[in-house]
Amino acid sequence: MMITVIVTGSTTGNTDDVADELRELLGAKITPAHTTDPHSLSGCDLLILGASTWDDGVLQDDMDAFLQKLAAANVEIPCAAIFGLGDQIGYSDTFVDGIADIAAALDAKGIRRIGAWPVADYEFTASRAAHGDHFMGLPVDQDNQPGKTTQRLTAWVDQLKRELAG
Ligand SMILES: Cc1cc2nc3c(=O)[nH]c(=O)nc-3n(C[C@H](O)[C@H](O)[C@H](O)COP(=O)(O)O)c2cc1C
Repeated sequence: MMITVIVTGSTTGNTDDVADELRELLGAKITPAHTTDPHSLSGCDLLILGASTWDDGVLQDDMDAFLQKLAAANVEIPCAAIFGLGDQIGYSDTFVDGIADIAAALDAKGIRRIGAWPVADYEFTASRAAHGDHFMGLPVDQDNQPGKTTQRLTAWVDQLKRELAG
């Protein structure tokens, strides 16, 4: 059985709500970034990192602090995926920028990243998380598109399973 752990950085609870929904779809364990020792992640098959973006393009505080601990930790994590909460209307120039910071931390650690997601269904001006026609993870916009969240999460979980198998 696959062991999936979701680490969350959430300031007003939106990322936590989305993580709860993901847990039901995946059978994962959730642990908040501010209480998570990266060494406790040893042995997981898939790490999912979820966090919001604040202050015009800044990764959520708890996740930022967690990534600094991860950088220094001696831990083997085979595979990871990212989801990011953001507001594509209110913060159209920095939409889910935090995803890019998480991706950079994973890349620096040599952790394989899966779960890139098409930009097609979002309206934004700029995002550091977008490379070509894909984001480096799944953006979730509870401010403007809450009605699309369940469908996005369901499709993303299917995609993760396919990528893990492939
Ligand atoms: C002051 C402020 C700054 C924000 N900055 C950004 C931003 O730069 N980019 C973005 O995509 N969303 C931004 N947002 C939107 C939040 O990321 C969004 O509301 C998210 O759902 C919050 O998730 P959380 O409750 O898990 O922290 C901002 C929101 C506020 C109130």
